[in-house]
Amino acid sequence: MKTFNDPSKLQKWSDKIRIEGKKIALVPTMGALHEGHISLIERAKKAGADEIVVSIFVNPTQFGPNEDYAAYPRTEKADAAKCKKAGATAIFFPTPSNMYLDSHSVYVDEGMLSQGYCGAMRPGHFRGVCTVVAKLFNIVHPHMAVFGQKDFQQAAIIRRMVRDLNFGIEIIVAPIVREESGLAKSSRNSYLSENEKARAVVLSQSLKLAKEAVAQKGEIAWSQLKKKMMGLIEKAGLKPDYIEAADADDLTPVKKLKKGNVILLAAYCGKTRLIDNAVM
Ligand code: PAJ
Repeated sequence: MKTFNDPSKLQKWSDKIRIEGKKIALVPTMGALHEGHISLIERAKKAGADEIVVSIFVNPTQFGPNEDYAAYPRTEKADAAKCKKAGATAIFFPTPSNMYLDSHSVYVDEGMLSQGYCGAMRPGHFRGVCTVVAKLFNIVHPHMAVFGQKDFQQAAIIRRMVRDLNFGIEIIVAPIVREESGLAKSSRNSYLSENEKARAVVLSQSLKLAKEAVAQKGEIAWSQLKKKMMGLIEKAGLKPDYIEAADADDLTPVKKLKKGNVILLAAYCGKTRLIDNAVM
């Protein structure tokens, strides 16, 4: 497995690989890798990629001033070993200063899908995500890139960015990998105490309940179901940040929830902000 730190060296390598006619997949991550990330590497393999590049970069521009940029877990050695074991052929470990020069002044801003949900609660977050992902696309020049459904809004925004800016990259979205308890795997789960981890299960449980209700009744008034989910989540001692139902393609809110719609939520468990979602 190759390791790159320098964007221009990776660009040159990628050019060479493309000339050889091989398919390149990119799996962008912020590290602290878990089975969710590994499933994306496996998905890239399944898609027939000859080279799988995993980028590991805690991207400063997507964190707000009061967020956990400094505290975000950094486990580079363990991450590299996991990538190798999973079948990645290259890792990209840039530093903040070789990704963002002091005079960096160009950003990518999506103007519609990023307005609500996490975008409303974390101003500037998706601008940072789009900018770094666009940079990674230009550095790695992949044929395909794999993202997780875990960050549903992020995946929708990246798809839109690829469409609107003509990146010509296939975007693959892989399903959410969960703990046995149902808790969605996340690098931020490492912040949770055992007690918090047990209580956080309510998020996936409430989504499951909603999905079952839609499967049974076909169509449900969202306001009613939302109240029920809020109640459950608050009863477990979590503080909902938002819980919304939306069209799964363009993320516009829906009043009546039906099959194919998505429920998106974020909640604080202690100081840790967790997100989850489910397509009905
Ligand atoms: P990060 O949170 O490290 O996630 C990297 C990728 O792993 C994302 O596509 C995310 O959706 C996926 N992922 C995380 N947990 C998952 C799970 N339980 N099951 C399946 N996939 C999961 O998302 C980011 O980093 C950043 O915003 C990034 C795109 C790298 C840009 O900085």
